[in-house]
Amino acid sequence: MSAYADTVSVCEPLAVLGRDVEVPLVGGEKVSYAALDYAASAPALQRVWDDVAAYAPYYGSVHRGAGYLSQLSTDLFEQSRATVAEFLDLRDGDQVVFTRATTDSLNLLASVLPAGTRVFVFETEHHASLLPWRREDVGVSYLRAPRSPQEAVAALDQALAQCPEGPKLVCVTGASNVTGEIWPVRELAATAHRHGARIVLDAAQLAPHHPVSVRDLDVDWVAFSGHKLYAPFGAGVLAGRSDWLDAAEPYLAGGGASRSVAREADGSVAVEWQQGPARHEAGSPNVIGAYAIASACKALTEAGFEGLVAREQYLIGRLRAGLAEIPQVKVLTLFGEEHPRVGVLSFVVQDWNSSHFSAALSAEYGIGVRDGLFCAHPLVRTLLGGEEAPPSECGAPEALPGERSLNAIRVSFGAGTPDEHVDRFVAAVRELVTEGARWAYRTEGGRCVPDTRRQP
Ligand SMILES: Cc1ncc(COP(=O)(O)O)c(C=O)c1O
Repeated sequence: MSAYADTVSVCEPLAVLGRDVEVPLVGGEKVSYAALDYAASAPALQRVWDDVAAYAPYYGSVHRGAGYLSQLSTDLFEQSRATVAEFLDLRDGDQVVFTRATTDSLNLLASVLPAGTRVFVFETEHHASLLPWRREDVGVSYLRAPRSPQEAVAALDQALAQCPEGPKLVCVTGASNVTGEIWPVRELAATAHRHGARIVLDAAQLAPHHPVSVRDLDVDWVAFSGHKLYAPFGAGVLAGRSDWLDAAEPYLAGGGASRSVAREADGSVAVEWQQGPARHEAGSPNVIGAYAIASACKALTEAGFEGLVAREQYLIGRLRAGLAEIPQVKVLTLFGEEHPRVGVLSFVVQDWNSSHFSAALSAEYGIGVRDGLFCAHPLVRTLLGGEEAPPSECGAPEALPGERSLNAIRVSFGAGTPDEHVDRFVAAVRELVTEGARWAYRTEGGRCVPDTRRQP
């Protein structure tokens, strides 16, 4: 247990959907599902589900309807924006744009960059942060994987110092979706600003686990996804400075983004675009998604991040202590095993193919983790110690275990995780390592599955 958890009381897991769901094992019996893939998508908070269900009968068109339910829905949509602004501790003049998810938010930001912007991004980023900047009129500098937070700050400092005048943007993750390690966001923001650059925080993995204060971290924008924040209704957020957003062409052209459209004498059509969030929210907005995010923000704030962080650190301590007793397990880390992390941890197991191992966790123990390269190919390859390209995102389900793994296993959890899921996971890893899988496994459609044609 961490020192933090000793001093702050560890709260109970929050109620989430799916906690009583039973899944079949390959042998026929049923067990309660241990959802340990929160980093991909977290289960919905019961509170979010209840709030959405209570609102559903009142659902109506947003912004354009004259009826009572339209007005109620519009109010709710705009209140949701205000709740998110409060959750993120935004500054005056900042705006909240509802998007589809983090990938969409960062692509939106990429679309509003002034021509000639140079973007600085570490090669360790999730592809959602790594790839959207590849515009013809934008330059991208990829910074090599740093081996400590200090090295990250120094590398950025040096890269920015060598950059000529002009608009600059730094994109950095708050917590890695591979290692769970927390990045030195405040220091990177200070470095960016010292060189006249702006910075966007990819908080997809940080926001579900830690409070994110835009004001305190002094970042210019922040992006996150509802489905990782216990609100799986298809919405996400880009929040922060208004100037570049208001100056650019709308992300999508269409109704809602346009204030007025008029036919010109020469037969063309003139458009006056909206200012503010509406400029980049063309089309009918996802009011349920936005409301669900706001509900999750309230639920996490009311539960209290102190207790939630303490609980998560307690689970991380339990997990690490358990895995440390299994010498065949190698935890992947960029900044060292002791570096603070959220409830995300990737590892490989000696003499095992990671896809095979993850399939056995599912089929024989009812545990859902993820295997592969986690949409962060350069980082995972660096951590695995090689540059060879495995065939797909899922890694190399058919590769025989060798000297070096070609993909990894990721376990991740959060506010709804009971102790039993982490304990079952550690016990299962130990048993698989010492006794082997009971079933044979084969590859089907690129995934590893138990070979039910052969009895154990
Ligand atoms: C750090 C990070 N950034 C961005 C994303 C992309 O999020 P989404 O798939 O919700 O757009 C993910 C998803 O796993 C992530 O972990």
